Amino acid sequence: MGDERAADCWAEGDAIALVGPGVSTRVTRLHRGPQKVGGDSVLDLTDQIGRPVGGVVTWLGATYRAVRPSVSDLLSQVRRGAQIVTAKDAAQLVLLAGVGPGGSVAEAGSGSGALTIVLATAVGPAGHVVSCDRRPEFLENARSNVARSGWGDRVEFVERDVAKDGWGRTGFTSVVLDLAEPWEVLAASRGALVTGGYVATYTPTYNQLERTVRRLRELGFAEVRATELIERGIHVGDGGTRPEFEMLGHTGFLAAGRKVD
Ligand SMILES: C[S@@+](CC[C@H](N)C(=O)[O-])C[C@H]1O[C@@H](n2cnc3c(N)ncnc32)[C@H](O)[C@@H]1O
Repeated sequence: MGDERAADCWAEGDAIALVGPGVSTRVTRLHRGPQKVGGDSVLDLTDQIGRPVGGVVTWLGATYRAVRPSVSDLLSQVRRGAQIVTAKDAAQLVLLAGVGPGGSVAEAGSGSGALTIVLATAVGPAGHVVSCDRRPEFLENARSNVARSGWGDRVEFVERDVAKDGWGRTGFTSVVLDLAEPWEVLAASRGALVTGGYVATYTPTYNQLERTVRRLRELGFAEVRATELIERGIHVGDGGTRPEFEMLGHTGFLAAGRKVD
């Protein structure tokens, strides 16, 4: 039986990732005419428009395949205002908060929108993310980063101090908090979640983690847990395979709980 799917072809304005063995991946937009990519080097991708995704591009002596960007590629493109969540922690937050296809997710703060992109990817086209931040300049940057990722239609940005004003609606399957005082938002989050829904938090210090976990317990959340992910790269070399000498020693702590009535 033949493959009857329509060919996936490039359109002007698409995000495009150039991937090849032994070279760094480049992510850019598909525009007509020459454009600067990676510093001052100029690349012209005009002839890709209308062609099937996956074609060969040669540039600066290297050969790439032009493919649709992965979520990691999209994160590498985020313009930073607020400090962003790391990829390893974002992936774990998705699991801890039970975020999946069709989910209805409340997030605060939006920050730079990096975690929002991961959440919007996880909920898929049938899902929805409401992302709140109390600072309009961060909200604007997050909105523009999420729009460039292509998931703008899955995310609603709201200017709101969720510690003071709560979420303003209910029925969320997940609440994800990356802000300084998550314990101030847990009672409102409990009220906004469906029974069986999860809240997950991300904080940089033990003090914040402890206050968060104590509050989760006080509020009667089930399955309360606190974790930290430590990622160590492995150098695979001809002379031997060993851990990398350098690593990121600390990013943030994760906590989670599940609403039961
Ligand atoms: C560390 S940043 C979030 C980064 C984001 N997760 C990302 O990956 O890009 C924290 C954000 O929380 C926002 N924030 C702090 N307290 C808040 C509150 N009570 N209500 C809404 N936003 C809040 C800040 O303005 C800031 O933008």
